[in-house]
Amino acid sequence: MAETGAAPRGGARRPPVEAPGRPAQRVGWSAYASARDEAIRRLRGRVLEIGAGYGANFAHLSTGVEWIGLEPSARRSVALADNARRHGHGAAPLVAGAEAIPLPDASVDVVLATTVLCSVRDQGRVLEEAGRVLVPGGRLLLAEHVAAPRGTGTRRLQRLARPITRLLDHGCDPARDTEGAVRGSLFEVERVHRFAVPVLGRLAMPFIVVEAVRPG
Ligand SMILES: C[S@@+](CC[C@H](N)C(=O)[O-])C[C@H]1O[C@@H](n2cnc3c(N)ncnc32)[C@H](O)[C@@H]1O
Repeated sequence: MAETGAAPRGGARRPPVEAPGRPAQRVGWSAYASARDEAIRRLRGRVLEIGAGYGANFAHLSTGVEWIGLEPSARRSVALADNARRHGHGAAPLVAGAEAIPLPDASVDVVLATTVLCSVRDQGRVLEEAGRVLVPGGRLLLAEHVAAPRGTGTRRLQRLARPITRLLDHGCDPARDTEGAVRGSLFEVERVHRFAVPVLGRLAMPFIVVEAVRPG
């Protein structure tokens, strides 16, 4: 997709395009966190945040954003509602999984998820639902840890750790190809930033920030 410079729905400006298969990997947690937070700051309009947890992203949302939270954990959604009110977002979070979003078609400008696609039961279904509730031209912003390349030690470790993380960390599967899932969905990928975040010695966990558009 060509750079247009026009302000798209749900975003302040269209970022430069990065061609698929041209990895621009940056290293370190702070590089990842600042790219994620900067992308969140650019969001505009009606923003549906799926798997919002306790509301870690409120600090980065622009004033004027109309935030709708969705969180399947009843316990988290109580804390999320309190935190949302403190940040001036009055609407009670939707207590639901993102595989069945209780909102009408074409009702939001943005779908936001940070470290959620690793945990959902069905990534394909979640992406379909995100596409359904977005207006044409609406934006998807994901910031996620993802599978390391096949054949690497990190990938083997991710697979070994999977039964434990699934049990202890909200069903988290550290070996998911979330970028591939988005590219295989209805979304047009506009930009992918890739990061390697050191976790232990030479071991680094891959993270991505993906910006995509629901075609009009
Ligand atoms: C690692 S936490 C991330 C929370 C928050 N997004 C953040 O960045 O701090 C993963 C969140 O995804 C939620 N989650 C798990 N399965 C989900 C699903 N099917 N649909 C939506 N959210 C889900 C969990 O309840 C949890 O709050």
